[in-house]
Amino acid sequence: MKQTNRTVEYLLEASEFNWEVKPGKTISAWGFNQQVPGPVLKAKQGDTLVVKLVNNLPEATMIHWHGIRLQATMDGTGEVQKPIEPGETFEYRFELPDAGTFWYHSHQNETVQMERGMYGGIVVEAENDPVLDNDRILLIDDMKLDENNDFKTDKALGRWMERHDGRQGSTCLINGKEAQTLHMHAGQMERWRIVNAASARYFKLSLDGKPFKVIATDGGLLEAPRTETELLITPGERYDIVVGPFKEWEVFHFETLAYNRMTFGKSKRQNYATVHVIESIPSIASLPERLTEIPDLAPRNAAVNRKVKMSVNPSLKHGLDFKVNGEMHCNDEPVFVGDLQVWEISNTSMMDHPFHLHGFFFQILEENGEAPQYKAWKDTYNLKPKSNIKIAWMPDNRPGRWMYHCHILEHHAAGMMANFEVIDRNAPVLPRQNHFHCHA
Ligand code: C2O
Ligand code: CU
Repeated sequence: MKQTNRTVEYLLEASEFNWEVKPGKTISAWGFNQQVPGPVLKAKQGDTLVVKLVNNLPEATMIHWHGIRLQATMDGTGEVQKPIEPGETFEYRFELPDAGTFWYHSHQNETVQMERGMYGGIVVEAENDPVLDNDRILLIDDMKLDENNDFKTDKALGRWMERHDGRQGSTCLINGKEAQTLHMHAGQMERWRIVNAASARYFKLSLDGKPFKVIATDGGLLEAPRTETELLITPGERYDIVVGPFKEWEVFHFETLAYNRMTFGKSKRQNYATVHVIESIPSIASLPERLTEIPDLAPRNAAVNRKVKMSVNPSLKHGLDFKVNGEMHCNDEPVFVGDLQVWEISNTSMMDHPFHLHGFFFQILEENGEAPQYKAWKDTYNLKPKSNIKIAWMPDNRPGRWMYHCHILEHHAAGMMANFEVIDRNAPVLPRQNHFHCHA
């Protein structure tokens, strides 16, 4: 649905700066354009996004455009580009084929760079978006700081626990701010686009038990709104919800409930922001019962053509190794353009892992042998301990190097990831590598 073919340009400067997370609490952040999160990039479906990145950090970086179905060369990973060194500039340019809520983040030394604030939201609007009174994007994060508000570095046991649990801190942020108040008018219905940008935090959304409607996820609108009072949002995932209308002067929390993902650190309920409902104003919102059509990529009983195994194993060297198909930093076999992929992904470990596929959306066909409750386009999906999912995805004509990984940044860094090539059979180029050393 390309109406305009506009080109939308942004300049992002990555640098180190002081960021006030709340009055009197300032951190030394790394981020884009001296703000955490970086600026929201806004465009319409079909537009071309051009982002010029200037790196003024003390180390190399690059940006990944999480959820955007772009060309492999623009994916912003070490597979497809050289890190952008301090003082260098790189121009990303790609079309936006899908409407929805996406995000961008550093894909270099992520456990440090993302923790310090190198991420931001992307909103791509569509002509058939439901009309609501207000649209906001809320990026969830948490930081682990010491008593001087420096990024905390653990020793021995703490380090080992952080490797196991992922890095989670008690400075809870919405759009880079701690314990803030959000205001919204009574009588209104708002679209809240929620992105979990945290390193490892599982966010189980609750608005003090008030019902809200889930209308979209990673790859855009659901077929119909779903009323919920709780919603688990794992690192990398997006959910758009519609809230309201509320009554004048209501006050409620935007908080996470406890979610036990089998970490050493105990999960607890934590407040992220407080919502104050102010005076009533007229509404123009209308939320249809039917939002879109999601065609099935494959029948539920489609034959599996690849198995992917995520595991955690004891190791003499690191204490624990995080693996895909028995290897750290696995190099998986290629797939061919146009060949429907039906993958069985299993998590053999005793903890949760959010599986993320770069550049393509998948559909869940089954989870532990059961059909999913509703249809959705996903790029990130949580695997519970000792569980498996069966997914379908289509490698369309975007050959090149891609990857999938656990979106808990410490697990990704510790090896729970794989690269693979998408090959166009009709192209005269040979794959860059043909040595694949991991098979399930
Ligand atoms: Cu949002 Cu490779 O990640
Ligand atoms: Cu993981």
